[in-house]
Amino acid sequence: MKISVCGKGGSGKSTVVALLANEARARGYRVLVVDSDESNSGLFRMLGFAHPPVPLMELVGGKKSLKQKMAQTNVLSETQIATAHIPEKYLLQKNGLKLVAIGKILQALEGCACPMGVLSREFLKKLTLETDELAIVDMEAGVEHFGRGVETSIDSVLIVVEPPLESVNVGQKIHELASGIGIKNVWAIMNKVPSEEIATRLKAELQKRRIEVVGCIYFDAGIFSSSLDGRIPVNGIAVREIKDVLARILSGVGMPAPG
Ligand SMILES: Nc1ncnc2c1ncn2[C@@H]1O[C@H](COP(=O)(O)OP(=O)(O)OP(=O)(O)O)[C@@H](O)[C@H]1O
Ligand SMILES: [Mg+2]
Repeated sequence: MKISVCGKGGSGKSTVVALLANEARARGYRVLVVDSDESNSGLFRMLGFAHPPVPLMELVGGKKSLKQKMAQTNVLSETQIATAHIPEKYLLQKNGLKLVAIGKILQALEGCACPMGVLSREFLKKLTLETDELAIVDMEAGVEHFGRGVETSIDSVLIVVEPPLESVNVGQKIHELASGIGIKNVWAIMNKVPSEEIATRLKAELQKRRIEVVGCIYFDAGIFSSSLDGRIPVNGIAVREIKDVLARILSGVGMPAPG
């Protein structure tokens, strides 16, 4: 299953990706995290890696030569890409958790991020997974990736929504765009919710927009405190809450238990 985690900037996408990845690993699934955010670079640290992987963009020789290099012979020019075929320096591995990154904007005036979108789309399209393997994609903030077709081969979309209405509205747009390209499993997870009362109100706003809610992560001081070190907590309220969320997602897509 390929699931993309989307939402407004700062809503908690990377946090949710890291929590889900750890929980899926704990359940025995093989997990490939795909960092498809061209701006933020800290996901590797949240997943417990000491340094980021070399971006796949470098495998194709950088943004300028993307088109030619995609057509030349390398792993990305294959029609199917299995995790095992990705060269080592582009794929970090630790305790069964794997991480690849598409590419980052590094310099002023280097041009737009469209080539990253193309590479992300093509990589995800060609990526073939084993039955016990999950790809979890940390998407860039907002909705532009839909314009670039990055979700073409995605099975499920998890929208991270926090209480501000603007976050709900971006969530609604993502829901429309994902449903519009035929993705059947589109859910929301509420995040940074400060109270039960606000959870009820936020859930009502989402349900009013026909968005199914698969879970709620309350505002967690532990997450906030770990974030100052660039990490996520390994236990605590959010770690407990994500267990139910993953269970609902896996049953929603009918993914069998590993092994
Ligand atoms: N449930 C939560 N409780 C408290 N703080 C949280 C929670 N979820 C996320 N945060 C904090 O909110 C901030 C943004 O989270 P995160 O980086 O995961 O968001 P993002 O959507 O990936 O952001 P971006 O759009 O910049 O990629 C971080 O400081 C993170 O620690
Ligand atoms: Mg992020």
